[in-house]
Amino acid sequence: MIRHFARREWWADAVFYQLYPRSFRDSNGDGVGDLDGVTERLDYLSALGVNALWLNPVMVSPMADHGYDVADPRDIDPLFGDLTALDRLLAAAHARGIRVTMDLVPNHVSSAHPWFLEALADPSRRDRFIFRDGIGDAPPNNWVSVFGGPAWTRVPDGQWYLHLFDSAQPDLNWEHPEVFEDVEKTLRFWLDRGVDGFRIDVAHGMAKPPGLPDMSLTDNALLRNKEDDPRFDNESVHEIHRFIRRVLDDYPESVAVGEVWVHGNERFARYLRPDELHLGFNFRLVQADFDAAEVRAAIDNAMSAADLAGAVPTWTLSNHDVEREVTRYGGGARGLARARAMALVMLALPGAVFVYNGEELGLPQVDLPDEVLQDPVWERSGRTERGRDGCRVPLPWSGDAPPFGFSANPDTWLPMPADWAGLTVQRQDADPSSTLNFYRRAIELRSRRPEFDGGVHWVRDGAFTRDGGLRCVLNTGAAPVTLPAGEVLLASGPLTGGLLPPDTAAWLV
Ligand code: BGC
Ligand code: MG
Repeated sequence: MIRHFARREWWADAVFYQLYPRSFRDSNGDGVGDLDGVTERLDYLSALGVNALWLNPVMVSPMADHGYDVADPRDIDPLFGDLTALDRLLAAAHARGIRVTMDLVPNHVSSAHPWFLEALADPSRRDRFIFRDGIGDAPPNNWVSVFGGPAWTRVPDGQWYLHLFDSAQPDLNWEHPEVFEDVEKTLRFWLDRGVDGFRIDVAHGMAKPPGLPDMSLTDNALLRNKEDDPRFDNESVHEIHRFIRRVLDDYPESVAVGEVWVHGNERFARYLRPDELHLGFNFRLVQADFDAAEVRAAIDNAMSAADLAGAVPTWTLSNHDVEREVTRYGGGARGLARARAMALVMLALPGAVFVYNGEELGLPQVDLPDEVLQDPVWERSGRTERGRDGCRVPLPWSGDAPPFGFSANPDTWLPMPADWAGLTVQRQDADPSSTLNFYRRAIELRSRRPEFDGGVHWVRDGAFTRDGGLRCVLNTGAAPVTLPAGEVLLASGPLTGGLLPPDTAAWLV
C-alpha cells in the first residue's frame, strides 16, 4: 500500500501526548493536577520528544464527569488555574516547539451552564436542549445513557430532558442557531489565544434523528455504537463538522481530531472528508488482542479507513476511557513487555500517534477500592461497572512513597499505589533500559530517521516494512523467532543470540 498525502501538515506524523490535567502534576498542593503543573514539567515532555499536547477539558465545570460537563466553555476552571496559567503554558510550550490542543465538548454542556439553569426555570427557554413530554409517566423514548441507566431525566414540572451521558450533561439541540454561534465563539476564543486545535468529544454525536425513534437495547457498551443506533452518526452531524472546519480554516495549521465511534470504515471516512475533520481517532489498536494477525488486521483496517477519505491515519493504544494496555495485555512483567512491543509497532506506522500520559512509564491499570471511585459510570451502572478511574491515577514523578512528587499533598484526588516507587520518572531516568528511556529513544528515531517514510508493506503477520527502509518485527508467539538481517535500531526488550524473544518487537534497517 503506497500512501500519498496531499500536503505535509505538521500533524501528519506528529506524536501527540494526551495529558489528563488532573493527573499529570499538581503545582499548588491541592492534590489535583493543574496547568502550572504542566508548565513546570514541559522540559520532561520536550525530552520525550512529543510534538503536541492534547489537554483533556480544563474549562469551568462542576466536574460531574471531570470536565466533560462544561459550565463555562470560555474560561478555565479554578481547579486547573486561570486564563493566565493557560497563557503561560502556551508560551512555554510554543517556545519548545510543542503545539497545544484542547478538548472541545460540543454534544452537551453541564447542568450548571447558565442556559440550562434558564431552561429549568422557564419552560419557554428550553429549545437549546432536547426537552420533551413523556409518554404517560414514561420517558419520551427508550434511549439509554452511555454511562448506564435511562438517557432522560424528568424535571419537576413533568418534562424530560435528554442526556446521552450523565444527567449532569444535558445534550444540546444542534438545530438551534445559538448553539452554532456559541460554539463558534468558543472555538475562536481559544484559537485567538494561541491554542493549536481541538480534540472533538463525541464527534459522532450532536445531531439527533427526527422524531427520536427508539433504539434497540441489545448492546450499550461504553462508546461503542452499532449500525442502527439512532443516538449517533446521524446525517446532519456532517453539517456541524463542516461548520467547525470553516472556523478552523481561518487559523492556518490548526487541527481538529474527532472522537469518532461509528460502525464500519465507510461511515468513519465520511467524517474525514476534506471539509470536515482533519483527523479521526481510530480505536482498532485499542481493541486488538496481543496477536500478530489481529494487530495486522487492525492496522490494515485503520489505514484503509483513512485512505477512503485520503486522510492521515491515527494510532492510539490507550486513553482516559480505557483500561491501560499493560493490564489489557495480561499485566505484570509480561503485560509490560507486550505494551512496549506494541509501542514500537505503533511508532513505526505512518500517521499521527497519541501517547496517553503514563504510557511512557509503563503504568498499569490501578485496582481502586469502591469508596474512592469517582467516575459517574460506577453509580449509574448500579455499581456493576467500576468505570474509568483506574487509568486516571496521578503520575509518579519521584521519591519512594505516594504521592511520589506528583503533589506536595499526600491526599491526591485518587490514591497512588505504594508499589509504584520503581515506576517514577526519577527512577526510570537513571535506568537506561527503563520504559521511559525506551519511549524517548523510539520517538527520537521516529522523528529523525529517514527510514520512517512512506507506506506499510506486510512481509507476514507480525512483520512489515516502510518504503523508507524500516523493518518492524513483532513476536506475539510463544517461541523466539529469527530476526531478519540488518542493523537493529531499537528493540522493546533484550534480544538473545540474534533471536527475537516472545512479547518483543524490534526495528531494523
Ligand atoms: C470522553 C469521555 C466522556 C464522554 C462524555 C467521551 O467520549 O472521552 O471521557 O466521559 O465523552 O463527554
Ligand atoms: Mg492543583
